[in-house]
Amino acid sequence: MPGRKTRRILVTGSCGQIGSELVGELRNRYGNESVVASDIKPEWDGESEGPFERADVLDDGRLREVIRDHGIDTIVHMAAILSAKGEREPQAAWKVNVGGLMNALEAAREMGLSQVLCPSSIAVFGKGTPRENTPQETVLKPSTMYGVTKVTGELLCDYYAEKFGVDARGLRYPGIVSAETLPGGGTTDYAVEIFYDAVEKGRYTCFLREDARLPMMYMPDCINATIQLMEAEPSGLKHHGDYNVAAMSFTPAELAEEIHRSIPDFEIDYDPDYRQKIAESWPSSIDDSAAREEWGWKPAYDLERMTEDMLERLRKRHEAGALYK
Ligand SMILES: NC(=O)c1ccc[n+]([C@@H]2O[C@H](COP(=O)([O-])OP(=O)(O)OC[C@H]3O[C@@H](n4cnc5c(N)ncnc54)[C@H](O)[C@@H]3O)[C@@H](O)[C@H]2O)c1
Repeated sequence: MPGRKTRRILVTGSCGQIGSELVGELRNRYGNESVVASDIKPEWDGESEGPFERADVLDDGRLREVIRDHGIDTIVHMAAILSAKGEREPQAAWKVNVGGLMNALEAAREMGLSQVLCPSSIAVFGKGTPRENTPQETVLKPSTMYGVTKVTGELLCDYYAEKFGVDARGLRYPGIVSAETLPGGGTTDYAVEIFYDAVEKGRYTCFLREDARLPMMYMPDCINATIQLMEAEPSGLKHHGDYNVAAMSFTPAELAEEIHRSIPDFEIDYDPDYRQKIAESWPSSIDDSAAREEWGWKPAYDLERMTEDMLERLRKRHEAGALYK
């Protein structure tokens, strides 16, 4: 891969659910010193070794200082406020998600960086979007502030790519399930919490309805998709900030059934809250053929394989007395 060994990558929002695992994989590929973890939190709480810089993405001067000090050429922009938290704090969500991305794109433009990658989300969809097999090109009328910021983010990436030639890329993650870092306030968090509660208590109360079908992805696939898009040859790409990606879709009842296979006493009940309404505004499945055709996207995990792996990891930690680390 041309230029691969010489990349210097800044990951913002590194302490989050995705950043904390992505940094480790990027360091495996590019070397510890070539990947700078950063977050508004004061300390790196990921597992891998390497540089960490405390930086608020809204502090433009600090962001540029980190970029200069480490000779950064690629920003992987993970700092954000997610859907459920964003509904409680819509002004903060706009500020961080849009203001932070603008700062990253502006730094890339003015400082001549090679690439900015910023994830989008299935939260860009909403009223008028076909809910099944949601196409790449479709209506984007989200009903959450988080969705509004993500549509804006996609458009900003497209604008900076077309107007200024910044290589800005992004993909619309579905709900991400992972065993390492707990999610930070999204509508699909139930699909992580359920595993912790199943292992610890043998029961779970779900904040979505049993039939709330949503697109989901296991973390190893999320990391692969992100790095694959980052490394894809630009000549093959027809889109910039908005690739649909998919792996599986399931309801809380189907996930509970899968967990039940290995924990026969597992019990679930349902107490839907405001997040049910958010879930109802999102697709139940996604057409990701553009990602498959343009950069070779292909997921490895389905519901069965993901459940097996999640339970194995969390059981080991539970036995060692470190379920929540
Ligand atoms: N996790 C999912 O299911 C999911 C789904 C779709 C899209 N995404 C997107 O993926 C990206 C990463 O999500 P995540 O799940 O890791 O989120 P998260 O909430 O777990 O982590 C976000 C991180 O950003 C940091 N942060 C917040 N404000 C900041 C600021 N002003 N400056 C610097 N850092 C700041 C937080 O401290 C946190 O560590 C986000 O863009 C999110 O919208 C995630």
